[in-house]
Amino acid sequence: MQKEMNQDLFKQIMGNYPTGVTIVTTTKEDGTPVGLTVNSFASVSLEPLMVLWSIDHRSSLLKEFKEGGKFTVHVLAEDQVELCKTFATKHDDRFSTCDWEISSNGLPIIDGVLGVFECKTFKDIEAGDHTVFIGEVTDLQINKEKDPMLYHRRNFGPIPKEFYQPKQTM
Ligand SMILES: Cc1cc2nc3c(=O)[nH]c(=O)nc-3n(C[C@H](O)[C@H](O)[C@H](O)COP(=O)(O)O)c2cc1C
Repeated sequence: MQKEMNQDLFKQIMGNYPTGVTIVTTTKEDGTPVGLTVNSFASVSLEPLMVLWSIDHRSSLLKEFKEGGKFTVHVLAEDQVELCKTFATKHDDRFSTCDWEISSNGLPIIDGVLGVFECKTFKDIEAGDHTVFIGEVTDLQINKEKDPMLYHRRNFGPIPKEFYQPKQTM
């Protein structure tokens, strides 16, 4: 095993840690929806329900999330690769590319995702070149009709079907 401290190695090892993909959204002060693609999402607590994610300080949206005080995490489905890319690249109006609505909590909710966590910000913590947002979950939605998107070594795609085999035989 190679022992070294550098950013490239860190990124390589993280790239070998497969994740799902989410889009995190909130609104600007005037109600305009904003959001970005995120895979730093993780579960934090069951009692109360809490999640976290982190945002790069270079993001244009840091201010909106800090001031918004609430956010939605959307767990993406395997058929949402284009949406994932749109929310990860510069675009005049990312929300013009999808169907969405504003929830009773005043948060933008994107259609066709696997799961939704609406959250109120519990804490935002500056950590190096990112800020970590911890949210207390206020509302949940699940879509049981779809399968998740997998992200691994910069590739997006469905979970290989053979992965489900052992489960189906249980
Ligand atoms: C799979 C994937 C995961 C990402 N995860 C994060 C993340 O956790 N935090 C983050 O700040 N940016 C993340 N990004 C990058 C942002 O989505 C991207 O930089 C986006 O353009 C930021 O929004 P902005 O251009 O409005 O600042 C990720 C991108 C991809 C493709």
